[in-house]
Amino acid sequence: MIRSVAIDGPAGAGKSTIAKIVSAQKGFIYVDTGAMYRAMGLFYLRAGVNPENTEDVEAKLDDIDVSIKYENGEQVVYLNNENVNGLIRTQEVGNMASAISSNANVRVKMVALQQELAKSQSVVMDGRDIGTVVLPDAIVKIYLTASSEVRAKRRYDEYKAKGIESDLATLKKEIEERDYRDMNRAASPLKKAEDAVVVDSSYMTVDEVAAEIIRICEEKGL
Ligand code: DC
Repeated sequence: MIRSVAIDGPAGAGKSTIAKIVSAQKGFIYVDTGAMYRAMGLFYLRAGVNPENTEDVEAKLDDIDVSIKYENGEQVVYLNNENVNGLIRTQEVGNMASAISSNANVRVKMVALQQELAKSQSVVMDGRDIGTVVLPDAIVKIYLTASSEVRAKRRYDEYKAKGIESDLATLKKEIEERDYRDMNRAASPLKKAEDAVVVDSSYMTVDEVAAEIIRICEEKGL
């Protein structure tokens, strides 16, 4: 039987970290849908398209092929057959991904790919619209959130660990702008599914959040 877990929430709430732990524990495939939008974002950045120009965005849609493979247990995203995993984690690509993801036709393309992935196997999928649109029948739905201060500090520490200089106030501002865009777009905005359980990770460690979500899964018989 296919039984999936949907984890939605704003940027930097810790969705991917938690989804990886839960998927490993349950033996499910982890699907990072943000990475797919990021691959699309990278394409549009390279093409120099203004994300606000709907006509230009849609004119290029057929030139873009995003696919997912699993190599050594890791999700690898291909953009027109190029492995782009190492290129999509920048703030610039994230902002472009957020901007183009408001386009309904971009979303139709990505949602179809995500639903296809979840059709033949149980998945832990994270994103913004998983519990509401992509997997409305997911057996467990989590809305993982944290304050923008905490999320900005986590990004800051992540960058620092990679030797990347950043400014905490700027990161917080960018996170809040991204939240606003993701929550206020017309097409599948980020919102809690009615039947999702809210987990606020602001004052929880990774282990505590993972334990809480695994407990919720067990409660639902997973
Ligand atoms: O989770 P992330 O930061 O990698 O996502 C990048 C952007 O992609 C995010 O700001 C909004 C968009 N996105 C989306 O619209 N729907 C999803 N299911 C996942 C991501």
